[in-house]
Amino acid sequence: MASELFQMISVLLIVFSFPALSHGWGTDGHYIVCQIAQERLNDAAADTVNELLPDYAKNNLSSLCSWADRVKFIYTWSSELHYIDVPDDSCSYNYSRDCKDSNGVQGRCASGAITNYTTQLLSYRNSSDNRQYNLTQALLFLAHIMGDIHQPLHVGHTSDKGGNTIDVHWYTTNTVLHHVWDSSIIDTTEADFYSSDVTGYVDDLNQNITGKWSNQTSKWQGCSRNAIACPDIYASESISAACEWAYKDVTNGSELGDKYFNSRLPVVDLRLAQAGVRLAEILNRIFG
Ligand code: ADE
Ligand code: ZN
Ligand code: ZN
Repeated sequence: MASELFQMISVLLIVFSFPALSHGWGTDGHYIVCQIAQERLNDAAADTVNELLPDYAKNNLSSLCSWADRVKFIYTWSSELHYIDVPDDSCSYNYSRDCKDSNGVQGRCASGAITNYTTQLLSYRNSSDNRQYNLTQALLFLAHIMGDIHQPLHVGHTSDKGGNTIDVHWYTTNTVLHHVWDSSIIDTTEADFYSSDVTGYVDDLNQNITGKWSNQTSKWQGCSRNAIACPDIYASESISAACEWAYKDVTNGSELGDKYFNSRLPVVDLRLAQAGVRLAEILNRIFG
């Protein structure tokens, strides 16, 4: 009954939603992360993910990986779970200092949300516990926020809202720095190298995961004290890449073109791949 209602609401939201202003990787970024993850699920995780997905999305987690952005406006409580703001003078992340919402409630940020939804999904094994959660929504939030936390500017500086208030020119288009990292670099890559087809981009990232990055993937998946997820590590990497690459040499009004695109694309490639590999590993640990 509840899941049917959820399914109906989801369908309506998908049909009537319009593109979000600037939230998370754009739809292609989230699609890419979940597509990479889906192909790496073990049989047990793939089965459980399928059980949790609504009928119209069976075998297709990636089709719902932007769901969390579309529900921000009705689940207003969720909007602060997509990012982390760190102090302007810092290029590192500190859970107790930074993981809170605008009211100061501890744990309400992207890394706290990953821990929370991971815990909820673990209750899948225990049918008496799991009734208190909507595990379909937990899965969709986890899959989405794992993408967001790997977008460097989703762990950005407070005063510029992760680059949302920094106006830039992306080639001939006016946008903001945050959107360059959510969408523009990805869209330009697809247009320039893959005839605007996201599938080719996913294939190349998968080839690098089993090729030039193959000796790094176990390190990406590694977690302190055998924890299931290590969101504080992902957040630290993001703010560090934000300082080193996203914000670097950019000020209000900067003209960003080939030089910025070519030097930053490797960072975007790496973060998409890490997010996908780690999401799969987390789901494999939870359900495996
Ligand atoms: N709003 C405030 N800070 C943000 C960030 N780092 N990313 C996305 N939206 C934000
Ligand atoms: Zn988001
Ligand atoms: Zn964003």
